[in-house]
Amino acid sequence: MSREQTFLMVKPDGLQRGLVGEVIRRMENKGMKLVAMKMIHIDKDLAAHHYGEHKGKPFYDGLIKYITSAPAVAMIWEGDDAVAMTRTMIGATDPRKAESGTIRGDLAMFTGKNIVHGSDSPESAKREIDLFFDDSEIYTYSLAHENWLYD
Ligand code: RTP
Ligand code: MG
Repeated sequence: MSREQTFLMVKPDGLQRGLVGEVIRRMENKGMKLVAMKMIHIDKDLAAHHYGEHKGKPFYDGLIKYITSAPAVAMIWEGDDAVAMTRTMIGATDPRKAESGTIRGDLAMFTGKNIVHGSDSPESAKREIDLFFDDSEIYTYSLAHENWLYD
């Protein structure tokens, strides 16, 4: 399994509820490496690009309103199998179905306020990273404890 990057965002409800630190803590504890992070108030145009795959669905208008309602925190995390591993840590889209131990399972109540977004495939991760970050905002560095995470 090769090292890859994934896009993770604490959505406006997660920021408002003071859960940014909790999300970061879980990712750090897992062993993921933070390589980019910024606050962003997503505008309608960016929201439409990011959630383009959902255009026309019944929840689309509500989703755009939600994601543009207040600032969010956008991040890139790196690690082996980072995309799938992060999706596992986030849990099911509907927090009522998300398992305990996952971010949504432990911290959220409702699909329309499910705290975080994570890329669903390496292709989505690349697209979303390009959409939210310039190359100059992404850092390359070694973690001192990396040898204790991997062979
Ligand atoms: P995300 O993209 O935000 O990480 O969430 P996801 O992959 O788990 O779910 P996705 O199907 O991509 O849906 C994107 C977001 O739209 C809202 N949603 N509402 N009311 C509904 O049936 C419904 N379905 C989806 C959620 O905020 C979901 O995270
Ligand atoms: Mg999705």
